Amino acid sequence: MEIIHVSAECYPVAKAGGLGDVVGALPKYQTASGHIAKVIMPMYRTKFLFQNEWDVVHEGGQYIGGQWFKYAVIKEKTNKLGFDLYLLDINGLLDREKIYGYDDDIQRFLAFQIAVCDWLSQWQDKPDVIHCHDHHAGLIPFMVKYCYGFQSLANVPTVFTIHNAEYQGWMGWHLQHLLPSFDSWKTGMMDWDNTINPLASAVKCAWRVTTVSPSYMEELKHDANGLEALLSSESYKCTGILNGIDTEVWDPSTDTYLTKNFDAHEVKEGKRKNKKELCTQFGLDSTKPLIIFIGRLVGEKAADVLPDAIRSSIYHSGGAANFLILGSGEPHIEQRVAALQHQLHGFVSTYIGYNEGLSHLMYAGADFLMMPSRVEPCGLNQMYALRYGTVPIVRSTGGLMDTVKDFEDWQGYGIRFNHANVEDLTHAISRAIDLYNEKRDLFNWMRTHMMGLDHSWNTSAKEYTLLYQSLK
Ligand code: ADP
Ligand code: GLC
Repeated sequence: MEIIHVSAECYPVAKAGGLGDVVGALPKYQTASGHIAKVIMPMYRTKFLFQNEWDVVHEGGQYIGGQWFKYAVIKEKTNKLGFDLYLLDINGLLDREKIYGYDDDIQRFLAFQIAVCDWLSQWQDKPDVIHCHDHHAGLIPFMVKYCYGFQSLANVPTVFTIHNAEYQGWMGWHLQHLLPSFDSWKTGMMDWDNTINPLASAVKCAWRVTTVSPSYMEELKHDANGLEALLSSESYKCTGILNGIDTEVWDPSTDTYLTKNFDAHEVKEGKRKNKKELCTQFGLDSTKPLIIFIGRLVGEKAADVLPDAIRSSIYHSGGAANFLILGSGEPHIEQRVAALQHQLHGFVSTYIGYNEGLSHLMYAGADFLMMPSRVEPCGLNQMYALRYGTVPIVRSTGGLMDTVKDFEDWQGYGIRFNHANVEDLTHAISRAIDLYNEKRDLFNWMRTHMMGLDHSWNTSAKEYTLLYQSLK
């Protein structure tokens, strides 16, 4: 089959979070299993663009709000990512350093989607599936069905994956003039609650909808940031397919960011060396359990709970653990987290910002990883932690429930808790410290066991194939 993924992110070209990881990995597994998998994404001005060679494969033009824009599609020459990578360039709109965060993001991603549809509508042989990811590609299922200019795509199946329903891409109806002309009888297919809602529109118009874990799919029927009723009524075409991880990129035995590579047989020694390096860099004590957090410092990840939970754990345990936090996000949370480093000097260290290499070293060197998330559609961090022998401490929600079992359950290998609050997280941390100090044999068994678990894309990529085939 020929699948084209449409996404705002794709690792290693441009990544802000897990969406990039997924779109950089799933197509690779699809290509390896005999399909033709392509990715089209905006051509931001990232390092990857300048470090690689490209062919221009298409040039075209379209209107956004009566204004003509030109676009170009370029293709990476050597196929080095293991799938066909295409970048779409629109001067003045997509040619920026960052992925998101500009005042004209609505116009930027609308123009991107219009250009993608225009390009695809000119393909002689159409793809078997257009697979759109998150709200930045959410109007494509509507456009291919109901925009007059893209009628040649009307019969091409569309699949839409919800990576996170917290972000829906809302835009007021006063912006409808930005869209290509469409069948006005179908206006309602873009609307939710009197706004244009790209995520809701995709749920209505895509042939099939997936979410990134089965538990999150269930949760969305009751809690979907306003889309509960829609997701319940459309549930007949929705499926939860658990994300996998790219086991080539995330392999502790070859990862070039690590001080010492290791596999499940040498987990103790391997992790010890990486931990030592981390503790030296961050002024921490490598004889104590090292508990880390990596991620967006936002309410959704319950990052606001970290400062008090860490403070209380340090006081109650007499400073028995050390903490290292890597992340960036909401300024008020960043400030509170950064302040910990001064208030609890020698026990807590922080790195405010984004650092891919450091994240790898942290997964390898840490003993525990905290994920107190209020919402976690899938979560990849806990799977990276498992693969690197780091015990995940997670709140029982979404994909965290589908991937982590508590060590007190049969053959469990993680720590789970129920509420995203200071008390529950502090209690979970005290269980972690106890496990590290008092149950060392069990702790070591867990690390070896979790490194052997298979969280690759093998199983889930097959589920996507079955889903695509059901659309023929
Ligand atoms: P989300 O996409 O909701 O942010 P995921 O768990 O799916 O959460 O994926 C997060 C990805 O982003 C992981 O690869 C994680 O290691 C990475 N990441 C998050 N914050 C940072 C950071 N500050 N520096 C480096 N990597 C980060
Ligand atoms: C989103 C979700 C995260 C998920 C990722 C990849 O960013 O917040 O839970 O792992 O997408 O699907």
